[in-house]
Amino acid sequence: MNIREFLADKVQSAMQAAGIPSELGPHLAPAKKAGFGDYQANGAMAAAKAMRTNPRELAAKILDHLELDGIADKVEIAGPGFINIHLANSWLGQQLSGVAEQATLSVEPTSAPQTVVVDYSSPNLAKEMHVGHLRSTIIGDAIVRALEFVGHKVIRQNHVGDWGTQFGMLLAELESQTQATDAEIALHDLEAFYQQAKQHFDADPEFANTARDYVVKLQSGDEKILALWHKFREISLSHGDEIYQTLNVTLSREDVMGESAYNDDLPVLVKALEDQGLAVVDQGAKVVFLQELADKKGNPSPVIVQKQDGGYLYATTDLACLRYRANTLNADRLMYFIDQRQGLHMQQIFTLGVKAGFASSDISLEHHGFGTMNGEDGKPFKTRSGGTVKLADLLDEAVERARALIETKNPELSEQEKTAVALKVGIGAVKYADLSKTRTTDYIFSWDAMLAFEGNTAPYLQYAYTRIQSIFRKAGVEPSSLTAQISVEAEQERHLALKLLQFPEVVELMIKEAFPHVLCTYLFELASAFMTFYEACPILKDGVEEPVKASRLHLARTTGEHIKQGLVLLGIDVMDRM
Ligand code: ARG
Repeated sequence: MNIREFLADKVQSAMQAAGIPSELGPHLAPAKKAGFGDYQANGAMAAAKAMRTNPRELAAKILDHLELDGIADKVEIAGPGFINIHLANSWLGQQLSGVAEQATLSVEPTSAPQTVVVDYSSPNLAKEMHVGHLRSTIIGDAIVRALEFVGHKVIRQNHVGDWGTQFGMLLAELESQTQATDAEIALHDLEAFYQQAKQHFDADPEFANTARDYVVKLQSGDEKILALWHKFREISLSHGDEIYQTLNVTLSREDVMGESAYNDDLPVLVKALEDQGLAVVDQGAKVVFLQELADKKGNPSPVIVQKQDGGYLYATTDLACLRYRANTLNADRLMYFIDQRQGLHMQQIFTLGVKAGFASSDISLEHHGFGTMNGEDGKPFKTRSGGTVKLADLLDEAVERARALIETKNPELSEQEKTAVALKVGIGAVKYADLSKTRTTDYIFSWDAMLAFEGNTAPYLQYAYTRIQSIFRKAGVEPSSLTAQISVEAEQERHLALKLLQFPEVVELMIKEAFPHVLCTYLFELASAFMTFYEACPILKDGVEEPVKASRLHLARTTGEHIKQGLVLLGIDVMDRM
């Protein structure tokens, strides 16, 4: 159950019974300060203003009708007309008992399931995946997991860049290299291959001519060149698959819907824009001028949909793609996880797409941008020599560093266990460092910060989980057998119980705003609340009475399940010991 919604409904009914029009909402939120209850409704003030009456008196009327018997042990009016709700310990205990056994904990399936199409990762296949694709890949994947968790239908779309003029050069290079070796070997290091092709292109005019000829041949569907393209695409995609697997990202081959998939639709789409009088010829190119996105001086925003030489652009493909997602995939909600710097591009696509009737205005069209990942010098993250950092290398380093850390922290683990733990901790640390920052800001990539066992990091949460598991080992109990009624007594117990019950609210907010960091902050607070509880409320010490012990063990189990589930939604694994 979502407590916030549950209480909002109660307050809303009381408001209606008090004669307040139903469009005036309860405005209910978790209280921000201690002493103001657990939840606070401030709807009485806005309602009193609209009804021209005294807010405290109106709040008192609402209170008369507010039925919270057995739910709250104190409801009071504060300040100008806030209603503060103090939930009863007994109710919190009842709500929490049984939650750990539920597959989705206290989260209920959404009452309004949507088809959500999510565009994420989407690297260019001409090159190796680099750190620039990390953010889109892991943020998108966290949101996708959360959407599915609450019962939405998610269609993942990996809009890979598998088309364009650079493929002429790459295919000519592939052809020349594969006379001596296999394609797999030639493309073993895509980044190096790209550089070789580029050098070849710049140094050898004959090769450059072949490359240009191959662009034309590729576009006209020449069989030999298409076969080379398929081979290149296949190998590059398999490099991506390896990264997804290491990263524990849920993208698979079925989700690949690259730029090339829209080729046949591009002339059709441009014609539709011309027929509607939207696209006009300007200096030989076909352009749509959007007054809706005009600059301060009133100059419309130009979207080129076809170049003078007949070639199509990134925007043309994205328009075709929008139409496909809206009409063929029947999206209710369309989410794009792409670098913030493509903000104008996405705005143009959405504005023009709706204007041209490619997507209905009922569909929620959302670009969720993100900032840059910077190095410790505050500049975009680069290798020591200033090159782009390959994602594969970065992940290898993460696992190596985690391994060294595990070696010092827990040398008695077996080699096999160390390897498994290092993978989960290293990859978890990289992902969490990113997910825990507000998506829209830049952040500094720091190995030391992300691998710390203290603070808002993946290792801290994974460690908190293992500590909970160690309690069960010490007690000699199987956690799934812990089902006693939870009784909430001590203040630290109460704080932990309420935090646990707020999980649904957090997941909802994460989905609504596409903000994984709200879940991270929550998990960090939850783990900290557990540590405080564990210090204050002994579980296995001599003298703790049996029912208290059973209740606290169950509370510990419930906390463990939440940390685990929360991390799963972020694509991070836990382990029983580390
Ligand atoms: N391939 C593009 C890039 O690497 C990102 C594509 C994002 N998706 C889209 N529909 N435009 O910048």
